[in-house]
Amino acid sequence: MSEPRLIPQIERYKEFLPVTEATPIVSLMEGTTPLLRASNLEKHLKEEHSLEATVYLKYDGTNPTGSFKDRGMTMAISKAVEAGSQGVICASTGNTSASAAAYAARAGLKCFVVIPDGNIAMGKLAQAVMHGARVIAIEGNFDEALKMVVRASEEAGLTLVNSLNPFRIDGQKTAAWEIIDDLGEAPDYHFIPVGNAGNITAYWAGFNVFKDNGRSNKLPQMMGYQAAGSAPIVEGKVIENPETIATAIRIGNPASWKKAEEARDASGGTIDKVTDDEILEQYKFLASHEGVFCEPASAASVAGLVKAASEGKVKNGSVITCTLTGHGLKDPERAITFAQEPVKVKAEFEAVLREVQS
Ligand code: F0G
Repeated sequence: MSEPRLIPQIERYKEFLPVTEATPIVSLMEGTTPLLRASNLEKHLKEEHSLEATVYLKYDGTNPTGSFKDRGMTMAISKAVEAGSQGVICASTGNTSASAAAYAARAGLKCFVVIPDGNIAMGKLAQAVMHGARVIAIEGNFDEALKMVVRASEEAGLTLVNSLNPFRIDGQKTAAWEIIDDLGEAPDYHFIPVGNAGNITAYWAGFNVFKDNGRSNKLPQMMGYQAAGSAPIVEGKVIENPETIATAIRIGNPASWKKAEEARDASGGTIDKVTDDEILEQYKFLASHEGVFCEPASAASVAGLVKAASEGKVKNGSVITCTLTGHGLKDPERAITFAQEPVKVKAEFEAVLREVQS
C-alpha cells in the first residue's frame, strides 16, 4: 500500500490534516492527479512571447467526479460523518454539487444543492441528479444561492459543504502538496482560475504548510485569473450580474475574497482577468495541442499565463504550474459548438478511404 494512488488522499497527508483515528474516511480515491509537462504550450510561449519556461498542467479533471472539488469534499464529508451530521447542503455553479452529491451518496447522507437555473453545465447537473441529490434551481445567480444555503444550513440543521466549511480548504491543500512532492520543490509561479476564491486560498495555505515543514525551500507567486465579466476582485467591487461563458466561475461576490487578496499580496503575485475569447482560445489549444480536455473555466489559468507572458510579467527560466480544475466532458454543449459536422458517407470501404485520402 505504499503506492500513493492506492491510498486515500486523507491518509497520504494525514499528518497535515485535522483527522484522527475517530475520523471515518469517506473516499473515492481522489487526488494523486497527473502533473503533465506542456511542451507544446512551452513552444508557443517561446515563439510568440519570447518566454523560455518549464510549464506543467495539474490536471485535476481526472478526480473521481471530474473536478478538484473532490479533494475538499472527501474531508468535508468525512468530518460531517464524524460529527454525526444527517445531511449536507451547498450552493454551486455545478462542480461542488456533483462532488457533494457523490460523497454524500457514499456516506449515506442526504444532499441538497442550490444552483443558478440555466447556468450550469449539463454534465454537472447529470451527476448531481444521478447521485441522488435534491436539486433546487433558483432564478438567480450563485451569489444569491450561497446566501440562501448559509441560512438554510443553520435553520434546517444541515452541514454546509461550500468552501466556507474550513475542511474543504484543508482537503484542497493536498493539490499543492502533490505538486511539491512531484517536482521536489515548489514552482516559481502557480496559475489558477478564481471563482469563489476557495482554491487559490487552499493552494497558498498548502504551499505555506510545506515550506514551514521543510518540504520545500520557496513559495510560488500566486497568479489568479477571473473571467472578465465576473471579476470582482480585479474591479474592486461586487459584480451584481456576473457574466461569462465559463459558468463555473460566474461569481460576483467571492466568499474568500479577502484571503485571495492576502495570497496575492503575500506571494507577490497577481489577480487579473481574462476575456471569454482568451479563455476559449486556450480551451481549444489545450485540447488540440496537448491532448488535455478541460472545462472552459479551467482554461482561465493558461489564458492567464499567456496574458502574463505577453506582458513580460514572467521571468525566463521559471518553473510554472497551472491548475486545470475540471474535465472537459462536464460541458459537452460548449465543446460541441466548435465541432465540425461529421462527414456522412455510405457504409462502404471505398467511400471511407476516399475521405481518409482527401
Ligand atoms: N474551476 C472550476 C471548474 C470550478 O468549478 C470552480 C468553482 C473554479 C474553477 C473556481 O474555484 O471557487 O475555489 O475559486 N466552482 C464552484 C462550484 C463555485 O460551485 O462548483 P474557486
